[in-house]
Amino acid sequence: MSQRQWIAVDEYFTGALIDTDTDGDTDTDNALHAALAASDAAGLPAIAVSPAQGKLLNLLASLINARHILEIGTLAGYSAIWLARALPPDGRLITLESESRHAEVARTNIAKAGLADLVEVRVGPALDTLPQLEQERSSGQAQPFDLVFIDADKEHNADYFAAGVRLTRPGGLIIVDNVVRGGAVLDAGSDNSTVQGTRRLIDTISADPSVSATAIQTVGVKGYDGFVMALVKAP
Ligand code: SAH
Ligand code: DHB
Ligand code: MG
Repeated sequence: MSQRQWIAVDEYFTGALIDTDTDGDTDTDNALHAALAASDAAGLPAIAVSPAQGKLLNLLASLINARHILEIGTLAGYSAIWLARALPPDGRLITLESESRHAEVARTNIAKAGLADLVEVRVGPALDTLPQLEQERSSGQAQPFDLVFIDADKEHNADYFAAGVRLTRPGGLIIVDNVVRGGAVLDAGSDNSTVQGTRRLIDTISADPSVSATAIQTVGVKGYDGFVMALVKAP
C-alpha cells in the first residue's frame, strides 16, 4: 500500500460521492473549489481538510443537528464552509484565526459561498479569543456549542480541548484534526512540539471523565493522519 494508492482511492470516492453535483446546486459546489483556488492564489498553505474529510465534518454536524459550531483554525475557510453548510438558517459558526491575512481570505470565500450571515471569523490567538467566548458564555450572551472542530497550532491542543469542553453542551461533539501525523504521535520522546502537543491532548482527554473519546486513523490525499472525536457527556 502506498501514498499513491491512498490518493487514487480518495480521488475515486471523492469524484463519485462528493464532487458529483447531486442536488443541482452547482453554485455552492463551485464555492468550495473557488475557496481553495483563492487560498492558493493568496499564498496560503494547502493544508485544509480534504473534500472527503470536509464532507465528514458536514455529515457529523448534520447528524447532531448542530446549530452552534466553533472552529479553531480558519485558514481560508474551507472546513468552515463544509461545517456551516450543515447549519439551519438561524445557526451560527464562530471560527478563530490568529492571522488577519488568513481571516480576510476566509471572509471573502465564506461570503462567496453565501454563508456570510452564518459565519463569524474572529481574529486573534485562540488562547486570547477562547477566554472571550467563555466570558460571553458565562454572562449568558452566548449559547453553548454543539460541535467544536480544533485545527490550529497543535502545541496548544490540550488547552483548546479543555476550553472546548467548557463551551460545549452535554451531547456535543469535539473533533481534533491531525493527531497521527504519519505515526509520529507514538514517539513519546519526540522533540517535535506538535507531537508533544498532541500527546498532551491525549493525556488531557484520558484524564477527563466528562468526555468519551476515540481516535481514528485516516489515509488519503493528506497522507496518513487521523482525528480525535470526543462526546461531551451529561454531567
Ligand atoms: N481548518 C482549516 C485549516 C486550518 S490550518 C481547513 O481545514 O480549511 C491552521 C490555521 O490555524 C492557520 O490558518 C493558522 O494561521 C491558524 N492558527 C495557528 N495558530 C493559531 C492560534 N494560536 N490561534 C488561532 N489560529 C491559529
Ligand atoms: C498540516 C496539515 C493540517 O491538517 C494542519 O492542520 C496543519 C498542517 C500539514 O500537512 O502540514
Ligand atoms: Mg488540519
